[in-house]
Amino acid sequence: MTFKQDFLWGGATAANQLEGAFDVAGKGLSVADAMPGGKSRMQILGSDTFDWSIDADKYMYPNHKGIDHYHRFKEDIALFAEMGFKCYRFSIAWSRIFPMGDETKANEAGLAFYEQVIDECLKYDIEPVITISHYEMPLNLAKAYGGWKNREIVGFYENFAKAVLTRFHTKVKYWMTFNEINSAIALPALSQGMVATTGGDQQQNIFQAWHHQFVASSLAVKIGHELNPDLQIGCMIIYATTYSYDSNPVNQVATMLQNQAFNYFCADVQVRGEYPAYTQKLFKEKGVSQLAIEDGDLALLKAYTVDYVGFSYYMSAVQNVTDKDADTVDGNILGGVKNPFLEASDWGWQIDPTGLRIALNDLHGRYQVPLFIVENGLGAYDKVEADGTINDDYRIDYLAKHIQAMSDAVEDGVELMGYTPWGCIDLVSASTGEMSKRYGFIYVDLDDNIEGTGNRSKKKSFEWYKKVIATKGEDLTND
Ligand code: BG6
Repeated sequence: MTFKQDFLWGGATAANQLEGAFDVAGKGLSVADAMPGGKSRMQILGSDTFDWSIDADKYMYPNHKGIDHYHRFKEDIALFAEMGFKCYRFSIAWSRIFPMGDETKANEAGLAFYEQVIDECLKYDIEPVITISHYEMPLNLAKAYGGWKNREIVGFYENFAKAVLTRFHTKVKYWMTFNEINSAIALPALSQGMVATTGGDQQQNIFQAWHHQFVASSLAVKIGHELNPDLQIGCMIIYATTYSYDSNPVNQVATMLQNQAFNYFCADVQVRGEYPAYTQKLFKEKGVSQLAIEDGDLALLKAYTVDYVGFSYYMSAVQNVTDKDADTVDGNILGGVKNPFLEASDWGWQIDPTGLRIALNDLHGRYQVPLFIVENGLGAYDKVEADGTINDDYRIDYLAKHIQAMSDAVEDGVELMGYTPWGCIDLVSASTGEMSKRYGFIYVDLDDNIEGTGNRSKKKSFEWYKKVIATKGEDLTND
C-alpha cells in the first residue's frame, strides 16, 4: 500500500459557499454575502468604487442561499459517509459565531449549529477538519475597521478562535487557521476584507494585514495547543507549481522570485516562525515600507508555528519575462503565460497532475513537516442525461491522475496526511459565484440563480471515489 492506513481521504467545502441561511439564527453578514454572482465578480471586487454595499436590484447574491447545506447537512454528510469519507474539511462562518465580529460574547446558536455538524460527522467516524476562517470575515470588520490591515482584527479573531477551539477541541483534532492566506497578493477582498475604497496603498495594506494574520494564526496555535497539545493546527496556502518558460536564466530567476513572492512567503513565516531572508528585497520590489510590528510579535511567531502545511493545488503556472507577447491563460487567482504542454479547464486553469508531484516534493523538502492536500479538483460543466445520470469521466480522469501523482510523491518520500478534493458536493464558485462551475461527486439541482429543486444526486465519480477510498488509493481505474 502506498498510502498509509490512517490516510485522511475526504472532501472539502467552505461555509459561505454551501450553507446559505445567510441571516438565520443570529448570523451577521460576511464579506462573502456582499459578493455578487457571475463571471465579473472579481472585476467588481477589484474595481475602484466597490465599497461592500449590497445592491439586490443590480446584482444577485448566490452565497445567501448556497445549496442550503445549513438545513440539509445531515443528508449531505450521509452521502459523504456512503463514499467512505475518513474526514470532512469545512469552515466555520465567523459571522455565525460573532455576527458583527467585534462582540465579546459568542452567539450560542452558531456554536450549536457547528456542534451538530461535528457530531453528525463523528457518528460516521468522519474526522472533522476545520478551517477557522475561509473567505468569510464579518462584513462589519471589513466596512467599519478596514479589514485585516487594522490591528484590532487580531483581537477579534483571537476571540473567535478561542470560542471555537474551546468548544470543539475535544471533538476536532485537525484545524487550519486561514484559507489560502497567500491569495491576498492578487485579491485581498476575500481573505483580508480589503478593497480599493478601504484606502491607503494596497501593497502596504496587504503585507501589514498578513503580519496581523500571522500573529493571529500563532495565537490560535497557542490557544489550541494549550487546550490540547495533540491538536494538529496547520496553515493553508494556495500553491501553483511554477515553471520557467525556457532555460533562459533570466526566466529562471523570475521563477525563483515568483515562488518567493507567491508560493513561499506566508508559509515561510508560519512554518519557520520568522520572516524569510528575502523579505526586505520583496518589500522593496512591492514598494512596501517597514511594517508596524509590536513588541512580542516576532517571539510569538517563533514560539507558535504550525504543525503541518495544508494547501490547495489546481493548476501550474509559467514565468516568462523575456517574451511579453506570449499567449496567456486565466487561472486560480493568478493567470499567466500559456504552457504549450498542458490542457486547460473551461475556466482556463491549466491541468497539470505532474505539477502536483513537484509541489509535494518542493513543499516537503522546504519545510520538513507533514503535508495535507486540502483542495484539488476540476471545475466543469456537468450534463444531466435524460435518465438522470451524470457521466463526469473528465472529472474522474483529472482526479485519478492527481491521485497517481500523490502516490508517486509518497514513493518519493513525501509525508502526506490526506486528500480532500474541493467541492465534494456542488457549491457556489468562489471566483465567479456560479453554480454551473461544478466540482462535486454529488450533483445539486440548482442553477446560477440558485433556482431549482436543490435535490442531490450521485454523479459517476461518486461510485469511483468510493472505490478509490475503499482500495486506499490502489484502484484508480474508471470502469
Ligand atoms: C480555492 C478556494 O481557491 O479554490 C475555494 O479556497 C474555491 O474557496 C476553490 O472555491 C475553487 O475556486 P472556484 O473559483 O472555482 O470556486
